[in-house]
Order: sequence, then structure tokens, then C-alpha cells
Amino acid sequence: MSSLLTLLTAFALLVSSATAQAQVPVFGQCGGLTYSGSTVCVAGSFCQFDSDFFSQCVPGTAPPPFGGPINFWFPFGDSYTTTTFNTTSVLPNINNPLGNPPFPGFTGGGGENYVGFDTATFNASVIFTYNYAFGGATINASLVTPFEPTVLSLIDQVNEFLTGGVAEKPAATPWTSANALFSVWIGVNDLAGSFSEPGDRGVFADTLLDEYFALMQKLVAVGGRNFLFLNVPRVDLTPLILAEGATAQAQLKSVIDDFNTRLASRVASFKTNNTGVTTWLWDSNSVFTTILSAPTQFGFVDAVSFGNTGDFWGITSTLDRRHTRYSRRISVR
Ligand SMILES: *[C@@H]1O[C@H](CO)[C@@H](O)[C@H](O)[C@H]1NC(C)=O
Ligand SMILES: *[C@@H]1O[C@H](CO)[C@@H](O)[C@H](O)[C@H]1NC(C)=O
Ligand SMILES: *[C@@H]1O[C@H](CO)[C@@H](O)[C@H](O)[C@H]1NC(C)=O
Ligand SMILES: *[C@@H]1O[C@H](CO)[C@@H](O)[C@H](O)[C@H]1NC(C)=O
Repeated sequence: MSSLLTLLTAFALLVSSATAQAQVPVFGQCGGLTYSGSTVCVAGSFCQFDSDFFSQCVPGTAPPPFGGPINFWFPFGDSYTTTTFNTTSVLPNINNPLGNPPFPGFTGGGGENYVGFDTATFNASVIFTYNYAFGGATINASLVTPFEPTVLSLIDQVNEFLTGGVAEKPAATPWTSANALFSVWIGVNDLAGSFSEPGDRGVFADTLLDEYFALMQKLVAVGGRNFLFLNVPRVDLTPLILAEGATAQAQLKSVIDDFNTRLASRVASFKTNNTGVTTWLWDSNSVFTTILSAPTQFGFVDAVSFGNTGDFWGITSTLDRRHTRYSRRISVR
């Protein structure tokens, strides 16, 4: 018995000495397709993937085993998307993949919205979601004034990502081009806040989209490659707009349809312009139409009630905050 133990111990020692590797110092290379050196980082650091050809030891603790293709999600948008994430507070972590506030955050619909649902309930991998969306957001606050001056526009949100440290792929947020998804759901407030203005609405839509996609180009410049776009939903059917009468409703519907057509061609052009970029366009508008045409089949009271359990529409004083409980079912898989 004791000789067997001795033998096993000797064997274990043999194995461990055969596989022992030199410890790579902090910031030394520890991986890469053409790399054959040690992959063991010195204590207090871990091997962080940088590109197919380079991984480096960086100070800190290795992130959890993420699995799956997507591990970081950077959503931008308005109250349909926000979970009121504070970018300078607790970052997403294994205990709360939204970082702060406690999951599912504060949402326009109350409870888990599509961001929370897809991050932690419908997810096929561990996803750390840095949700830059802000309630009431427009694309450019100088073009369409938000309901409050403190609202962060899409421009502000993207700048917050670009200048707040996350864009540099710090050790705390080891996102890569391959494992990160960028998403944008914006336009509700831009269109509802401008559809009845004089002037060519199509020209205005192009002005908005020029700025929208200039921002997307900035995300590509720092490594963004996976982009999900959501088009403008049927906010022409909100109780607020319906109360303005059939003419207003039809006018807003036509402005939304035109914007969405232009958005679809921008998405196609954005993909063509950027080799290696993958895009998805989720047609929220059609899904809203489907549900609002037969709300009871989807478990809602009707198409027009708002603010109570079972209602399709949420309640607040601004159009932006008219959320759908349905939106949580949107999937990014
Ligand atoms: C965000 O978090 C920081 C740090 O905890 C805090 O100082 C700041 O007031 C927070 N901002 C908001 C809007 O709550
Ligand atoms: C989904 O996310 C939760 C919360 O981060 C995580 O605990 C769970 O492991 C994830 N599911 C999969 C299949 O990775
Ligand atoms: C926002 O709109 C204003 C007014 O048209 C314009 O001057 C400004 O350049 C726009 N900002 C960006 C970043 O496009
Ligand atoms: C694609 O590139 C062309 C030519 O530079 C430009 O006119 C167009 O606006 C770009 N498309 C997008 C969506 O950025």
C-alpha cells in the first residue's frame, strides 16, 4: 500500500515537472496562434486574450468562464432599453451581469426588460451587459430636444463608452471584437418629437441617420464588429398619439415607416462599408403590429390600455416611457 502511494506520488511529481512552465511576468505574452512559450502567468495576473495572435498577462483575476460566442453586450437607446446602469459604479460581474443597480435594474416597463431577459434569462453564455441606454434619449439633443436637459443622447451614450475607459478593453472589461455585441434601439423620441414639424421629414431622417451611423463608425474604429439594430416600433399606436386623432396617427406612422426603410438601407451600407462587420436588424415594428392586431392572443388585455398589469403599454408622462411588456421577449440569440 505504502509503496503504491509512493509510486503514485512519484508519478504525480514526474507529470507535474514535465508540464511545469515558466511563469510569464505581467504584460508578457502568454498565448497566440504562433506562440509556443509558457501560458502560465505570474501570481496576481491572468492571461488575457487580445487577438488570435496575442494574449498577454495582465494584473488581476481571470474573469469567469464565459462560454458561448458573446460575453459582452453594449446596448444604447432610450427607456425601451435602459436599466439605469451607472457607468461609474459597480461594473457587471458574475453576481449581477448588469453591474448596477441590482438586477433587473429600473426599467420603463417595470421588472426585467429585454436587456435583462437576454442577459441573464434567455442567455446561452455568461454575458456582462454595460447598458448605456438612457430614458428619453434622442439621437442628438440639438436636433430633437429631449423631455429633460439631463437626458443623455445617443451621442452622449456612445461618447460615454468611448471615453469612459471601457472602449480600451481594460482588464476589468476584457471584451474583444469577437465576443462583444453592440446594439442600438433609438428613434422613438426623435420621430414622436418631430413628426409634425414643417420641412421634409425624409431629409430630416437622413440627417438623424448620418449622425447615428457616424457614431457606429466610431464603434467600429475601436473594434466593434457585431451590431444589432432595432427599428422604430409602432409608437403611432400609443394611447397618447391615438388621443391626438387619426391624422396625427397616420402622419407619425408614415414618418416611422420612412425612417425604418432608410434605417434598413443604412444598415446594409454600414455592413458593405466595413469588412468583418456582422449586422442584424430586428423588425420591432412588425412585431408590435402583430401583437397589437391580436393583443389577447399574446396575453394582453387589449391594444390601448396602459399602466396596469396585463396592459401592453406602460405609463408615464412622456411618450418614450410608454413601454411594452412585450419588449422583454426580444431575443438576440
Ligand atoms: C454614479 O455612481 C457614482 C459612484 O458611485 C456616484 O458618485 C454618482 O453619483 C452616481 N451617479 C448617479 C447619476 O447616480
Ligand atoms: C446566463 O447568465 C447568468 C447570469 O449571469 C449565468 O449565471 C448563467 O450561467 C448564464 N447561462 C449560461 C448558459 O451561460
Ligand atoms: C448635433 O446637432 C447639431 C445641430 O444640428 C450639430 O451642430 C452637431 O454637429 C450635431 N452633433 C453631432 C455630434 O453630430
Ligand atoms: C458607406 O460609405 C459611403 C462612402 O463613403 C458613405 O457615403 C455612406 O454614408 C456609408 N454608409 C454608412 C451607413 O455609413
